[in-house]
Amino acid sequence: MCGIVGYVGPQDARDVVLEGLRRLEYRGYDSAGIAVLADGSLATAKKAGKLANLEKVLAETPLPSATTAIGHTRWATHGGPTDRNAHPHVSADGSVAVIHNGIIENFASLRAECEATGIEFLSETDTEVAAHLLAAAYREAPEGEGRLAEAMRAVCRRLEGAFTLVATHVAEPDTLVAARRSSPLVVGSGRTADGTAEYFLGSDVAAFIGHTRNALELGQDQVVEIDRTRGVSVTDFGGAAAEPVAYTVDWDAAAAEKGGYGWFMLKEIAEQPQAVADTLLGRLGAHGELVLDEVRLSDQELRDIDKIFVVACGTAYHAGLIAKYAIEHWTRIPVEVEVASEFRYRDPVLDRSTLVVVISQSGETMDTLMALRHARDQKARVLAICNANGSTIPRESDAVLYTHAGPEIAVASTKGFLTQVVACYLVGLFLAQVRGMKFEDEVASIVEDLRKLPDAVAQVLAEMEPVRELARSLADADTILFLGRHVGFPVALEGALKLKELAYIHAEGFAAGELKHGPIALIDQGTPVVVVVPSPRSRESVHGKVVSNIQEVRARGALTIVIAEEGDEDVVPYADHLIRVPRTPTLLAPVVTTVPLQVLACEIADTRGLDVDQPRNLAKSVTVE
Ligand code: M6R
Repeated sequence: MCGIVGYVGPQDARDVVLEGLRRLEYRGYDSAGIAVLADGSLATAKKAGKLANLEKVLAETPLPSATTAIGHTRWATHGGPTDRNAHPHVSADGSVAVIHNGIIENFASLRAECEATGIEFLSETDTEVAAHLLAAAYREAPEGEGRLAEAMRAVCRRLEGAFTLVATHVAEPDTLVAARRSSPLVVGSGRTADGTAEYFLGSDVAAFIGHTRNALELGQDQVVEIDRTRGVSVTDFGGAAAEPVAYTVDWDAAAAEKGGYGWFMLKEIAEQPQAVADTLLGRLGAHGELVLDEVRLSDQELRDIDKIFVVACGTAYHAGLIAKYAIEHWTRIPVEVEVASEFRYRDPVLDRSTLVVVISQSGETMDTLMALRHARDQKARVLAICNANGSTIPRESDAVLYTHAGPEIAVASTKGFLTQVVACYLVGLFLAQVRGMKFEDEVASIVEDLRKLPDAVAQVLAEMEPVRELARSLADADTILFLGRHVGFPVALEGALKLKELAYIHAEGFAAGELKHGPIALIDQGTPVVVVVPSPRSRESVHGKVVSNIQEVRARGALTIVIAEEGDEDVVPYADHLIRVPRTPTLLAPVVTTVPLQVLACEIADTRGLDVDQPRNLAKSVTVE
């Protein structure tokens, strides 16, 4: 939530920061702003709405060129999305500009304290207090090198909540100072073609991958000072020196471009075969065994597990629901799945033999992070399934399994989801292997099925034209229902979520068996109902039951849209629209059956003339609770 960019170096900082904001706009797009430090004073431009609005302002009234600048794209928390509330916020004396991500929870008392000194606030944000406090703390800090960093530490010690703050001060034109507590911040360091050092700050590496792949990961409660001549130095909030973790970003700039697609989401849907293949790469051994060296839990620790919680939000939660079916089936370990925002508040029973699997594409989702911390406090082992290298969730977990989806820019998760599901399969099978719950040949046979998934997804994608056509005919629907059983149920939930968030159409996902207990009353003449049909080879005739459910809704006037595997002839008489997917073992089927639902939602939203990549009210990475 909120994109943060900072630059100090020889290039025109305005251009570097604007480019960074373009790459980070997916993090929040209620307003945008930029501040440059030029000729001993601060100049700012800010505008409500998307970045394009700010760019228009800058084209009409350019800011002076500068070598130090900060920029922000906002997802509003305190104060509406207005010009006044847009960041950066400047202190009353004009000395400091600040951008912020997160929530300063004690801002009301701090604001009262500032107002008592005669400061008049210009915005309704919690952020503005940080600007005023920082200006005051700077005046108090000892003169000399590191004064702004010292002031930042003093302010951070007074702040409650989660925050990333980046500040620039008129007296230190070649310096940026930033702080983080439970909110994301990475540092990039590079050199221009002539070898001059330059430095970047970003909410994530997308802010600067066009310039450098050398990144530094900051820890909790740390302050970083980046200075053109002195370089980078990091301390904790008390001033003790800290060592940041250096890493090389393996995404390239092109991966974060649209690459000829109309929407990032379309590109990311198309990338799914590769993303799935990359997530499997190196993890399936030559003899059909699982090789998960990066799971830093010993075999004994894995054998001791007697309960698993999967905790995540939104789409990642749906991946967790699928994981439950697979992990329980393969390992016979009980698995509970919970939305992260509920998990820690209900006092779950956790101990050393509990494994908590947290799933997060961004690695920064605050609800998931807080659940993770709660689990670790209770001594549970935490395994993260995550896509973003260098993010907070994997760093704070006992073990991590990275999905290799590459950057996911569209707010709606697609390749992130598919690779999370695949990673969950890997975890389940690995546990089964280590605990001896499956014979080697059984594991090897499932591994063979996993290897076929990238091609199966590619096959689905090659046959999406009828889905696009269907989507265009559904663009005016008021409501669309999604039904599934077994692993098809979470797929139905995911299909409904995609439609809600992209097309703003009312959508609900149901366990098909629950329909008769109430929701069937929603069905009227022509109500579109999407049904995810399990394989006819699925256990205990789930298939037959779903076919009956299709008939039930059709008998009540529903327009049935049926997703069924090739060769399933039972569904043909009851399907108004039939979408075929390749034959896939039941537990792995979500990897193929989800894809048409992504395409459907994307195309309906596009037909309705909506912004597919940046749906209203949303942000890619939700870094507030
Ligand atoms: O980055 P995360 O995977 O932790 O994000 C979790 C959810 O916020 C995310 O999946 C959200 O539901 C997506 N917009 C769904 O498309």
